[in-house]
Amino acid sequence: MTSTTEIAREIYRISVFVPEINLEFSHFLVRDDEPLLFHAGLRGMFPLLREAVARLIDVSKIRHIGFSHFESDECGALNHWLESAGDAQAVCGLVGALVSVNDFAQRPARVVTPDQTLQTGRYRFRFIPTPHVPHGWDAGVLFEETERTLFCSDLFHQWGHREPTTSSSIIERCKSALLEAEAGPFAGYVPYTHHTGRVLESLAQQQPKTLAAMHGSTYYGDGAQALRDLALVMREVLGPRNGSGA
Ligand SMILES: [Fe+2]
Ligand SMILES: [Fe+2]
Repeated sequence: MTSTTEIAREIYRISVFVPEINLEFSHFLVRDDEPLLFHAGLRGMFPLLREAVARLIDVSKIRHIGFSHFESDECGALNHWLESAGDAQAVCGLVGALVSVNDFAQRPARVVTPDQTLQTGRYRFRFIPTPHVPHGWDAGVLFEETERTLFCSDLFHQWGHREPTTSSSIIERCKSALLEAEAGPFAGYVPYTHHTGRVLESLAQQQPKTLAAMHGSTYYGDGAQALRDLALVMREVLGPRNGSGA
């Protein structure tokens, strides 16, 4: 049911494919001095995910639980992890903590502001706020600065059961995923605002080498180019129509 792949040194992608919705959910475990889990996952997936994480580390030693925005696949099982690991804390931006997490979670979150870093040992992370990208006022992405890995949540969403990692361009899959979402009950999944292009460009400037997507393959390659390509695709699929002004 779960599949685990080391996508960078001591960084593991633990994914669960749900055939009923043709969607894969990936969670990333950073096995460092202070272990970090990015995406607490759905509450209903917790037993499965806990078992997979326990094959890699002692679950009680998890120290940081990060996610992009307040939504069940991102942080539904947060309290289960906080119960399992007494020293663990949610890690998020100020808006996430004040608006949702500090009320929902058993313990207050650790807020990481844009000028702060979170050192877990070998690795150093920055939480970059990206309001409404992919969605949610509180949204952000986690960037690991030493190896330039971007944990990008729902950005680069791909439907289906994909290969864990790829060095081939994923942009066409992402475009079809957006088009498919827009044509069905998930229309409006990703909003397009006058900030979208700027936010994606600010991520491109970090020059990531690995894009760790929540839904779909992890991409190795020119992350800056991929983010600029994604900005174009999002504008094309979701942006204002020529002349309509809407
Ligand atoms: Fe989401
Ligand atoms: Fe998601």
